[in-house]
Amino acid sequence: MHIVYERYGNITLRETILVLDFGGQYNQLIARRVRDLAVYAEILPYDAPLERIREHNPIGIIFTGGPSTVTDDNAPKCDERIFTSGIPILGICYGSQLMGVSFGGSVKRADKREYGKTDIKYDTSSPLFKDLASDSVCWMSHTYYVDTPPNDFDIIASTQSCNVAAFSCAPKKLYGVQFHPEVVHTPLGNDILRNFLYEICNAKGGWTMDNYVEAAIADIKHKVGDGRVLLGLSGGVDSSVAAVLLDRAIGSNLTCIFVDHGLLRMDEAKQVEQTFSTAYDMNLICVNAADKFLDRLADVIEPEAKRKIIGEDFIRVFESEAKKLGKVDFLAQGTIYPDVIESGAGHAAVIKSHHNVGGLPDHVDFEEIIEPLRDLFKDEVRALGKALSMPDHIVMRQPFPGPGLAIRIIGDVTREKVDILQKADAIFTHELELAKVEVWQYFAVLTGMRSVGVMGDERTYDYTIALRAVTSVDGMTADWCRIPYDVLEKVSGRIINEVGHINRIVYDITSKPPATIEWE
Ligand code: XMP
Repeated sequence: MHIVYERYGNITLRETILVLDFGGQYNQLIARRVRDLAVYAEILPYDAPLERIREHNPIGIIFTGGPSTVTDDNAPKCDERIFTSGIPILGICYGSQLMGVSFGGSVKRADKREYGKTDIKYDTSSPLFKDLASDSVCWMSHTYYVDTPPNDFDIIASTQSCNVAAFSCAPKKLYGVQFHPEVVHTPLGNDILRNFLYEICNAKGGWTMDNYVEAAIADIKHKVGDGRVLLGLSGGVDSSVAAVLLDRAIGSNLTCIFVDHGLLRMDEAKQVEQTFSTAYDMNLICVNAADKFLDRLADVIEPEAKRKIIGEDFIRVFESEAKKLGKVDFLAQGTIYPDVIESGAGHAAVIKSHHNVGGLPDHVDFEEIIEPLRDLFKDEVRALGKALSMPDHIVMRQPFPGPGLAIRIIGDVTREKVDILQKADAIFTHELELAKVEVWQYFAVLTGMRSVGVMGDERTYDYTIALRAVTSVDGMTADWCRIPYDVLEKVSGRIINEVGHINRIVYDITSKPPATIEWE
């Protein structure tokens, strides 16, 4: 087995491709495509100096696209020294235009934006297009394009409206493509990226989760030694996989604290305890803090206030349990790669303040933080869980917000409402699972609205439950799920019959945007 993950101090010696982010919407997708081709990829901001790039010892660099115009005075530029560093470069869209003008080529503004699938001819004598069909289709999305390639560069692909759809200086291993090989609409895009990695950067490959498990365990053992590690376990995918990985590496030197805030789904707390304490035999401290959280949430209506209270209390409960353990050497966290990427473009507006464990506790006595999933994308965390033989019900678990049902109960949160929502949600979940509907996330919401109904001969005045089910890739955008009517009918009938105080059920048919996935 070929292991490529080796870390010594700060210097990463594993085979790495760097993705320089010029603000394109596909920056993470490019890194994921490269990783799917078995080479580790990391994203850095476009202006990372050469010295920082060298620390990673990259076998190649990919420039992303971006919204800027390369000829503008304030256009984002990379450290010029990268071009003469001898490191192979693939520029995509904006990245290719930047390479073009940096070497003396020219760019031009098209009369109208070229957008969508376009026929393309590849020069298959170029290593970038080796073994590809010469006639294919690519995905274009640009207004500017390279009009004349720099001296010493050859045109290696053309479309009808873009003569220089790709250009290269093969001896210097510099390549630029105007189209987007990373998106599925470029059917040979994956082959192009593979050629860049294996034909041009001479990658060996080996970034697989089976390899990662072994190397990560060795790495954790090396770092932790005989030290004690404390982990906040939520039962979600990330902290669960982190727990099992740490358990493999250091066994009883790991202690997990699970705080039940009373706002989990039905039987969830029991399942966490059963899985980690009984099945995995870990040191697990379960804290039932439901009363504390529900008391503090009494009469709180504003969603951000709920989040803040839960986040703060979570830390406090965690701290007071941790204190009982005395000194620990490491605090472990389930941080994943999308949380640590430094973007090349500005930061998006905060719509909701998300919280998982709620930040770092101030009063826990530990020396260092350990983040064993820090390098992984979400789907890689799931693949890691599978490589660790974890059961699907944990590894494929849908996202669940840290503040739990508190942000699915519109208005004030009471024990009675939590109970109603847990029951309705369990019915919805059960029926969707039975019907095997393909869906990314689904849940029930207890709306703050009450309305008039009739049950038997009686007038009722009760709550409305909203059902929400969405398809999505990453939660950033989402579409409402077309659940078959008969499934909705069954769910509606069961909720009315089996859960008290509900006399109306609605299905949420808004996508994100304009709505968000959660209601609060
Ligand atoms: P929204 O509602 O922002 O949700 O469209 C996007 C995804 O994030 C989850 N979510 C949260 N997760 N803490 C979390 O850990 C939170 O406060 C939180 N709010 C929303 C939501 O479930 C969805 O998957």
